[in-house]
Amino acid sequence: MAKYKIAWLPGDGIGVDVMAAARTVLDAVGFDAEYFPGDIGWEFWKSEGDPLPPRTTDLLRQTDAALFGAITSLPKEEAENELDPSLRGKGLVYRSPIVRLRQEFRLRTNRRPCYAFPGNPLNVADGIDLVVFRENTEGMYAGVEFHPVPGEVRGVLEAHSPAMKKFDATSSDDMAITCRIITRQGARDIVRDAFKYAKGHGYGSVTIVEKPNVLRETSGLMVRVAREVARDFPSIELWETNIDAMAMWLIKNPQNYGVLVCSNLFGDVVSDLCAQLVGGLGFAASGNLGDDYAVFEPTHGSAPKYVGQNKVNPIAMILSAQLMLDWLGEGELAARVKRAVADVIAEGAVRTYDMGGSSSTTDVAEAVTRKVVSSGGATRRG
Ligand code: NAI
Ligand code: MG
Repeated sequence: MAKYKIAWLPGDGIGVDVMAAARTVLDAVGFDAEYFPGDIGWEFWKSEGDPLPPRTTDLLRQTDAALFGAITSLPKEEAENELDPSLRGKGLVYRSPIVRLRQEFRLRTNRRPCYAFPGNPLNVADGIDLVVFRENTEGMYAGVEFHPVPGEVRGVLEAHSPAMKKFDATSSDDMAITCRIITRQGARDIVRDAFKYAKGHGYGSVTIVEKPNVLRETSGLMVRVAREVARDFPSIELWETNIDAMAMWLIKNPQNYGVLVCSNLFGDVVSDLCAQLVGGLGFAASGNLGDDYAVFEPTHGSAPKYVGQNKVNPIAMILSAQLMLDWLGEGELAARVKRAVADVIAEGAVRTYDMGGSSSTTDVAEAVTRKVVSSGGATRRG
């Protein structure tokens, strides 16, 4: 029996191409796994009215972790129009499968490494080695929103917050409210994950990126909790920055930072900024991590214009598989995959279009695979 059970979720479009690329590399490095293909994505929305059928979440529950490619998701009207005729008019609502996976499996931590591989022509600067920890389930994306704003909600807010009074003249339909919810537990978990990672991976600091001078309560709680957690990690410094200033510092001196920790919305923005510093979507890997389950995915989508062309950069997906190896405790395999990717980038002979080359997705997968094989002597399966 294989050591690990991995749910295999290619999804739509280029998700299929980049997953195939990652598989070549995983097999070459000798990862001892059995893979269980799962249904996810637009096809299943169209034919069944559910892009994440219950059989897929059941499958995930029987595995150790999932690798996920990408999905297509279209706006409300198109979603309804593309449904199988027998399913239309039944009030089916499309909900993002990845958001549902984060909620159902309590994948509270989103980890996004942004490393400037030497020789990558897309790096904004050399020497960047950032890892963003983004809280994945609460904050501004907690899903507590109002429009129109019910009278009771408004009444309670007016009774408890003088700042609410200035909106007196606005009718409830002309106002929308999104609640930014931070819990002590949520804050503690994300900050602790960031510190543990910093300690385990040789980083000297953790930077909390918030805005406590204005968002006094929510960012204030994040920062207070960060100071508490930091006491348990005396070897790691806690740096505190404001999100707006940080956007400038990250462009000016990205090499000065290491592990960053943010609440949900700030982390979403900061992680895209950091990804672009080191090559953009073709390099942006991520892990959605819970206490006992995790889903790894590149942050790009299904890139419909490149479907079936074997053209896109599979490195983001290969690095997502590498994060999975690391999370499963296969640190040595993870290191070999990262080194292989680094070598291919440094040599510069095999580059997809985004890097200015004309190599295919499979060319990159094969180049990384050759490096992986020569670094370990593992034989290629299948
Ligand atoms: P996208 O990420 O699919 O592609 C945008 C553009 O980025 C592409 O046209 C291509 O030029 C470039 N790109 C993306 N991945 C690349 C790669 N691996 N190598 C080289 N270049 C790459 O975003 P878009 O076009 O906004 O969305 C397409 C579909 O994907 C939509 O249906 C959207 O809802 C969905 N989506 C899904 C995500 C997910 O599965 N987590 C995330 C983002 C979008
Ligand atoms: Mg995003």
